[in-house]
Amino acid sequence: MSVQKTLSIIKPDATERNLTGSINTRFEEAGLRIVGQKRVCLTKAQAEKFYEIHQGKAFYASLCEYISSAPVVVQVLAGEDAVAKNRAIMGATNPANAEVGTIRRDFGQSIERNVVHGSDSPENAETEIGFFFSQMEIVE
Ligand code: CDP
Ligand code: MG
Repeated sequence: MSVQKTLSIIKPDATERNLTGSINTRFEEAGLRIVGQKRVCLTKAQAEKFYEIHQGKAFYASLCEYISSAPVVVQVLAGEDAVAKNRAIMGATNPANAEVGTIRRDFGQSIERNVVHGSDSPENAETEIGFFFSQMEIVE
């Protein structure tokens, strides 16, 4: 284990329902620190670039449409084992399969509208953080 940073996105279904504070509380109570945060509206092209790893999958077009449909809050979370810890706090991709007490289980509406994004590896975290944040926007 080591101190890591990970990229989190509070997705449109959550910002629309005014859940940003409730979700941030989950991160902070679990010991993750929000060291970078901003509210942005992604263009369709930015969404397609961010999710290009999923290009060709059945859900890709709908996912890109959805993630660019309303504001999102992009965040850098820091802490011990932050990548895996955030994935555990988030819960499984499909809220129906996520454990009770996870963000996705407690707030998710569908497999697409599942409240949050979190990087899945330290390598992807670095790439995803660089996609949204400059050095001076991350304050530890
Ligand atoms: O977000 P996570 O890493 O858990 O899942 P993913 O497999 O990387 O998928 C990225 C996002 O695509 C998910 O969070 C869902 O919003 C969406 N998705 C979907 O709409 N339908 C699927 N069958 C799988 C994923
Ligand atoms: Mg993923």
